[in-house]
Amino acid sequence: PYCFSKTDIIQSQDAQIHPMDIGLIRGYGIFDFFRTSNYVPLFLSDYLDRFIRSAEKTHLDLRYTKKELEEIILKLIEQNDLENGGIRMLLTGGLSENHFSPAKSDLFIFCEELLFPSPSKYEQGVKLVTADYVRAIADIKTTNYAYPVWLSAQWKSLNAEDVIYHHQGIISESSRSNIFVIKNEEISTPSEHILHGITRKRVLELAPRTSIRAITLEELMKADEVFMTSTTKRILPITTIDESKVGNGKVGPFTQQLMEEFKKMEA
Ligand code: PDD
Repeated sequence: PYCFSKTDIIQSQDAQIHPMDIGLIRGYGIFDFFRTSNYVPLFLSDYLDRFIRSAEKTHLDLRYTKKELEEIILKLIEQNDLENGGIRMLLTGGLSENHFSPAKSDLFIFCEELLFPSPSKYEQGVKLVTADYVRAIADIKTTNYAYPVWLSAQWKSLNAEDVIYHHQGIISESSRSNIFVIKNEEISTPSEHILHGITRKRVLELAPRTSIRAITLEELMKADEVFMTSTTKRILPITTIDESKVGNGKVGPFTQQLMEEFKKMEA
């Protein structure tokens, strides 16, 4: 396979990163991740806008325009024959003299195999565990996932799919997904301390009356339906949180309907 590395498209195995890049030694860098559907990069414009915004907000020098990024991506899809795959854009913090301040960043764009949850998870829903945590600079897609990577050993031991963060009684998001809560036929999604997901954006288009607001942990635990959204999970129902069932423990009708409607958006 081919990837874009720094200035050119090269063989992926030849891509190199300096071990002293602050992306590695400080966990400072940004990325974004999207996928192709039948060779079309789904919702690409939204992902590129977010990537460019992340670079600006982290004071990293991207050096490529939206148009240039798009051209590189289309070339990579063609060269890799990427019918249904993932594409990761990564901008490192760079090689810095004081090993701390952002410096000359390197850009990489990689194609990957996609790993979707199994069909049974969409039919039965999954379990999430709660954890008291709030992400810093949450609306920027930074490469820092140290806390959830560390926590994943714990949620795996509890047979959970992932985590839901809450802090001071307010929920925010899952480690790599946004959260929606349904109660009495009303849909809500958290407003603060989240990454503004592109899948979340699509769901808000499908359900324009969704209320975007602070949602309490208590509300979450009393919801009729809960689901998570992300590029790799699409809309995934959550039927257990910690040790309690969500609603009747089955995938609910609103979630079901949104899953159907979302399928049409990606066709
Ligand atoms: N995660 N919140 C966080 C912290 C995320 O990392 C992601 C994406 C989302 C959902 O955003 P989107 O719908 O644009 O994928 C929310 C990607 C998939 C990942 O880290 O693999």
